[in-house]
Amino acid sequence: MSPTDRPDRLEIEAPVVSVRAGLGPASRKPRSLRPAGVPFRGTLPEPSAPRVLDVKNVSKRFGDRVVLEDVSFHVPIGEFLCLCGPNGAGKSTLLKIVLGLLEPDSGSVTIGGLPIAKGRRKVGYVPQRKSFDRDFPATAIDVVVANLRGRWPLVIHDDEREIAMAALARTGAAKLAHSQMRDLSGGETQRVFLARALATKPDLLVLDEPTAGVDVGGRAAIVDLMAEISSSDIIAAVLVTHNLQAIARCAERVVYLERHVRAWGLWDELQREEELGAIQVTAGDHRAAAMDGD
Ligand SMILES: Nc1ncnc2c1ncn2[C@@H]1O[C@H](COP(=O)(O)OP(=O)(O)O)[C@@H](O)[C@H]1O
Ligand SMILES: [Mg+2]
Repeated sequence: MSPTDRPDRLEIEAPVVSVRAGLGPASRKPRSLRPAGVPFRGTLPEPSAPRVLDVKNVSKRFGDRVVLEDVSFHVPIGEFLCLCGPNGAGKSTLLKIVLGLLEPDSGSVTIGGLPIAKGRRKVGYVPQRKSFDRDFPATAIDVVVANLRGRWPLVIHDDEREIAMAALARTGAAKLAHSQMRDLSGGETQRVFLARALATKPDLLVLDEPTAGVDVGGRAAIVDLMAEISSSDIIAAVLVTHNLQAIARCAERVVYLERHVRAWGLWDELQREEELGAIQVTAGDHRAAAMDGD
């Protein structure tokens, strides 16, 4: 199987596992009574709980390709949600809609009950590492302060320095404050980007494969940080990841997206629903870990 046609895999060290969509020996699993194709709904958030993110019936197409179809889910205040799904499932497209970078064709998204134009300043974004321009001349503290004030710093004021240093300290990156971004490792870069997002005191963190392209040690540190954020009740998060450790340690709930929401519930529940084809966790795929760059 070539790297381009293999199913999504988890970036995990041990035990070696892979997540596969719609594949695998279903006969070994207990049979579900739910008809094929019917979305799985596990234990959902209390409907009356205040929602920091509410995605309602969102659809999006590029040309004649439908990328998102009638996608609905919500995230209550303080909940950490993992968004999983194969490559091309529409995960990044959905995040771009939440960030106000793309308009849905239909449906709506609100953040803290507000339309995106108003609510998006309550969102902190951590990009995929490979989207960072490593040639851009900037120190870590510049990156954090620029996001706080919405323009590039010429002079950093004392109050900004205090907020930025507190955020960098929280992600274990205080000693990197005056390092050039281009000199940082993948894990260090992501700590700075996490600090950048946290410095704005967001209600919702949005993370798009933050451990992708990060070495094993850096990955573990990012997962530790995300688990710590998950255990706080203040910040809600939507984390796109294939990292099983990240899901197991951070996720309060999981949405499995493949153009539409195929499954939504607790991680334990989704794992038990293997035969529905939404998520397959299979042992023994050593190539998956060996080839895992992102
Ligand atoms: N701006 C765009 N124009 C056209 N097609 C796009 C655009 N952005 C994404 N797509 C396509 O939409 C599909 C979903 O992409 P994406 O949301 O990036 O998936 P994921 O993040 O789940 O891997 C892919 O087939 C991708 O090629
Ligand atoms: Mg993506």
